[in-house]
Amino acid sequence: MTHSSSDASRSGTLRIGGDLAVHRLGFGAMRITGPGIWGPPADHDEAIRTLKHLPDLGVNFIDTADSYGPDVSEWLIKEALHPYPKDLMIATKAGLTRSGPDIWKPVGRPEYLLQQVHKSLRNLGVEQIDLWQLHRIDPRVPANEQFDAVRSFIDQGLIRHAGLSEVSVEDIKAASKFFDVATVQNRYNLVDRSSEDVLNYCTAQNIGFIPWFPLAAGDLARPGSILDTVAGKYGAHPSQIALAWVLKRSPVMLPIPGTSKVAHLEQNVATADITLSEEDFAVLDAEGRKALQAAS
Ligand SMILES: NC(=O)c1ccc[n+]([C@@H]2O[C@H](COP(=O)([O-])OP(=O)(O)OC[C@H]3O[C@@H](n4cnc5c(N)ncnc54)[C@H](OP(=O)(O)O)[C@@H]3O)[C@@H](O)[C@H]2O)c1
Repeated sequence: MTHSSSDASRSGTLRIGGDLAVHRLGFGAMRITGPGIWGPPADHDEAIRTLKHLPDLGVNFIDTADSYGPDVSEWLIKEALHPYPKDLMIATKAGLTRSGPDIWKPVGRPEYLLQQVHKSLRNLGVEQIDLWQLHRIDPRVPANEQFDAVRSFIDQGLIRHAGLSEVSVEDIKAASKFFDVATVQNRYNLVDRSSEDVLNYCTAQNIGFIPWFPLAAGDLARPGSILDTVAGKYGAHPSQIALAWVLKRSPVMLPIPGTSKVAHLEQNVATADITLSEEDFAVLDAEGRKALQAAS
């Protein structure tokens, strides 16, 4: 299913931190970099076209990080979209260092995090970051020191809202003593349900849940599979149904499918037009859980 008139607004709205309203189908800007999320993308102009097309499609939430490239993703967002549309919310992160392709090492020392906040402000060309997420809690630095640093970024007005990434319910509770946790970004999709408890907690607390790798459907996407059959019913691609399932799973869900290609972006946004029936949702839910059990 691909509609040139697709609009992410049909995915519904989520208020981040209680004030910034965004459409629930967002965009992940990790894939507009080179292999291993290192250096520039293979096709710079197509990456720029993809970013410029986001407002046309009603996508007003972009997720990026200082470490994507590093810096490349933030630079391209600025190149393509600055001065930014008024309703566009850009979320970035810091806390993972890069010393080569596919190498990600956490560093959570407060002075380093502060340096990276300033760098993201400059890279993106903004005076305040709408949503800044601690990419990882560094196990070698006391967590409270990292949370206290995040609190200070809010107090200084450098960031408006703060979130966490790859955390447990206990981590969210611990961080909440220092600042209001606006969002949590954990890996989650139809066949990776290891964060169900975190998602349920976020739903109950009205914390935005940003599932990364939302398109993954593993073997469930193979021809003749249940996902393939359901996709056929809706005249859709299996990856669209996997995404529609994620969107329906919770009202606080804010998936950020990532792509460097206009055609893939249009296909992903067209998911906003798909409303899964309760029955199809339940069947896919059960199959996803079975696939997870079979894999573990
Ligand atoms: N917090 C964290 O630790 C963390 C970790 C990883 C990612 N993230 C964030 O989450 C976002 C999404 O995660 P992700 O990129 O790993 O997973 P994803 O969005 O589920 O999948 C992206 C992959 O699927 C391809 N793709 C996208 N749309 C497609 C389509 N319609 N048809 C066919 N292929 C398609 C992309 O390649 P093409 O470019 O060829 O389309 C890319 O290889 C990232 O952009 C990033 O912002 C966060």
